[in-house]
Amino acid sequence: MLNERILSIQNELQIAEIESEEMLETFRLTYLSKNGVIQALFKEMGSVPPESRAEMGQKMNALKTLAQEKFQQAKSKLEGVQSDSFRAADDISIPADPTPAGSLHPLSITHRDIKQIFYRLGFTIADGPELEDDFHNFTALNFPPDHPARDMQDTFYFENGAILRTHTSAIQVRGMEKIKPPFKVIGPGKVFRVERPDATHEAAFHQLEGMVVGEDINVAQLISTMKTLLSEIFKRDVDVRLRPGFFPFVEPGFELDIACQLCGGKGCSVCKHIGWIELMPCGMVHPNVLRSGGIDPEKYSGFAFGLGLDRLVMMRYKIEDIRNLHSGDLRFSGQFV
Ligand code: FA5
Repeated sequence: MLNERILSIQNELQIAEIESEEMLETFRLTYLSKNGVIQALFKEMGSVPPESRAEMGQKMNALKTLAQEKFQQAKSKLEGVQSDSFRAADDISIPADPTPAGSLHPLSITHRDIKQIFYRLGFTIADGPELEDDFHNFTALNFPPDHPARDMQDTFYFENGAILRTHTSAIQVRGMEKIKPPFKVIGPGKVFRVERPDATHEAAFHQLEGMVVGEDINVAQLISTMKTLLSEIFKRDVDVRLRPGFFPFVEPGFELDIACQLCGGKGCSVCKHIGWIELMPCGMVHPNVLRSGGIDPEKYSGFAFGLGLDRLVMMRYKIEDIRNLHSGDLRFSGQFV
């Protein structure tokens, strides 16, 4: 009986796998501690017939030695793994693990590129608050009170009469309060409208206003500025069309549409099967707007445009849905290195 248990423990010891500190401790408690199975065998020596005791004692001692050797080998191996990893951490010549790098959002990339283009053309940056008043968002831009044109842009109103600006054209008015002609400014920013979001509409989106005021500013200069912007952004020719458009703050006013870059102008769900996307309305600044900015319209003229920045980014990177831009999903925004 005792012999069989010795053989069985011997087998267990030979196949035992010790791969962690916890396993090593379990091994010690099972085979080498006072309450372990080998010590229990020694306690049974009393029942072994005297003539077999010497032989049985040798077998038990061999078993104990086997367990001790197994324990020592495993212990050294585990300590070796630790000291190897310590040495690796200590070796400053080993290349560091790569740190995942962040990337710029496509809106930020495009915003940055546009600023560079306009800096080169001599523009400066103007700013204004997102929380606006009726004067800067509407009245100074030649929207008469209660005029239906105010409904063109569904507005978020606060109880105290403040509004979330519906377009960056409010920055035109803020700009004219601070600087006098001649000037060339761009005003990028976030704007807000009561909108039902779809592939090309959001309730909070980005525009980039441009305004140039000086003597003899004309439509040809406006068109050449638009062309420069688009050719620099796309680095190739893109089809655009200019058609008459109404905005109370420009006269004449135009709509500049870009051929849908997702279908090449053939028509798809993004461009609602028309082949064109409204991108950048523009026009010659209305004399009333110059007047409300304290600028003499007899002496000065100007042009202005309001670029839909999110839509430009969609066309630039062939993005099918504007909502991707605002999703906060790093799997999306990390693609535009
Ligand atoms: C305006 O906001 C005028 N202030 C633009 C302007 C400035 C005209 C200066 C003349 C002179 P509009 O509402 O069309 O215009 O918006 C301008 C551009 O913003 C659109 O062509 C489109 O590209 C973008 N846009 C408009 N609404 C949304 C929306 N809900 N979501 C995303 N982009 C939009």
